[in-house]
Amino acid sequence: METQKISPVPQAVYSPEPVPAGQFVEGIRELSRGLITKQKIYDYLVRYEIRPADLEQYKNWLPDRHTRNKIFRNEMIEVMLICWPVGAITPLHTHNGQLGWMTMIEGKLKVENYRKIDCNRPEAQQVVGIDCLTGATKIEMQHLQDEFAVPGGPLNTVDKTQTIHRIINAAEWNQRAVSMHVYSLPIDSCVVFDMDAQRCFRRDLKYDNE
Ligand SMILES: [Fe+2]
Repeated sequence: METQKISPVPQAVYSPEPVPAGQFVEGIRELSRGLITKQKIYDYLVRYEIRPADLEQYKNWLPDRHTRNKIFRNEMIEVMLICWPVGAITPLHTHNGQLGWMTMIEGKLKVENYRKIDCNRPEAQQVVGIDCLTGATKIEMQHLQDEFAVPGGPLNTVDKTQTIHRIINAAEWNQRAVSMHVYSLPIDSCVVFDMDAQRCFRRDLKYDNE
């Protein structure tokens, strides 16, 4: 992996209008009936947010890992609240070739972006509906830029060109973090990379609130 390129912590640039959860979800449902693009969901998320009182029911804390809590899901799109205890860190993972948008509700997160340069099982990517069959034993990654996500800050996204990252709530910040994530299509699994062991594997994803 290459050396880190850290961009400065961004200032708040958006102030979405807080709306009831039902209204927010109805807007997402409506958007999911048309063609879903990166820009369309982005525009919605910088305009509206679920009002704080309605988010409480989705918060769910575990001491040692982040929790994924479903707010809405249909065949095209899912919305979840993720609660990050102090020091929580995801493995390096893909988003299965889907699109994703992340907004910060409270606290701060670091997103480290990566690009896969090479692996010794490239033919495993020739599969329909998921990004890869996995199983490589030699993987080369390039560490791209890091981004900091803060409430009202620029939205963090994953797409078809930037799809590998890990997310960190650094222990030194000593604060919990809450973020809202939208994925399309809904994602039931992802590829996880263990760069120390030089292996990758598919991991199932579940909600922690059902
Ligand atoms: Fe992710």
